[in-house]
Amino acid sequence: MNPILSVLDLEKTYRQSLAARGEEKLHRALSGVTFEVDRGESLGIFGESGAGKTTLARCILGLAEPSSGKVLFKGEKIESRNKMKLRDIRKSIQVIWQDPLIYLNPYMRAGEIVEEPLINYQNGNRAGRRGQVNGLFEMVGLSRSFKGRYPHEMSGGQCQRLAIARAIAPGPELLICDEAVSSLDSPMQIQILQLLKSIHSENGLTVIFISHDLALIRYFCNRIVVLHEGKVARVGSMDELIAHPPNPRIEELVLYAQHFMKNGRLAHQ
Ligand SMILES: Nc1ncnc2c1ncn2[C@@H]1O[C@H](COP(=O)(O)OP(=O)(O)OP(=O)(O)O)[C@@H](O)[C@H]1O
Ligand SMILES: [Mg+2]
Repeated sequence: MNPILSVLDLEKTYRQSLAARGEEKLHRALSGVTFEVDRGESLGIFGESGAGKTTLARCILGLAEPSSGKVLFKGEKIESRNKMKLRDIRKSIQVIWQDPLIYLNPYMRAGEIVEEPLINYQNGNRAGRRGQVNGLFEMVGLSRSFKGRYPHEMSGGQCQRLAIARAIAPGPELLICDEAVSSLDSPMQIQILQLLKSIHSENGLTVIFISHDLALIRYFCNRIVVLHEGKVARVGSMDELIAHPPNPRIEELVLYAQHFMKNGRLAHQ
């Protein structure tokens, strides 16, 4: 084992307001979450809606402060309050969220969106950056003619390619994909998965692939962390999960996914 990331006994509690009564309650979104991610692997995080997957991603990215426990990246603790350290970590851990139109700057053109992290994290000159941007567009399968477009002038799949180009621009070591293909139609899901897979294998990038869709995880990952109601229900291989689901609800989800794997869009991949 050569872990790039260690999640240790992580707990995250949110205050949720009960608006009608003007009261607050505590909701434990994550509890006792512990697992490791090996350098260069593609690890799936699976769980149904509300299981705590995005909360976990936010804790890993330093966007949310754990209530207790910790996340270590290459042995160093990630702390949302330490902005200097977070800046370095942001270069090394990048993320692709579900809906790129929400987080890609609507006032920037596609070329500028990909160039921005190069300006922030590298010392190169303009001409060098232009070459890098062209290379990144090519890598994600976007024609250079898209460089002048705004995100709203691009399709969902094209926007997600743009988000991938931006995410890999600073040369991250770890890429987190949180439902990165969930809002796309099936053929586009497969195209983007294939792109992510080739970037993963060609660049030796470590990938955490978060999804509520086991068929997508199976396509991408060998090892899975199953989250259920904020707790780790299983860490292991896809085969173990299918053979011995940890609880009846996960078994239902596994059976549902198996149906798609046999008959559906990922059957012959
Ligand atoms: N900022 C917040 N304040 C209060 N509660 C929150 C907050 N963010 C998430 N939660 C709650 O924490 C729980 C876990 O949410 P989270 O977004 O991590 O789930 P998820 O597994 O990503 O779900 P989905 O598959 O729908 O994206 C949910 O019950 C959610 O309502
Ligand atoms: Mg989520």
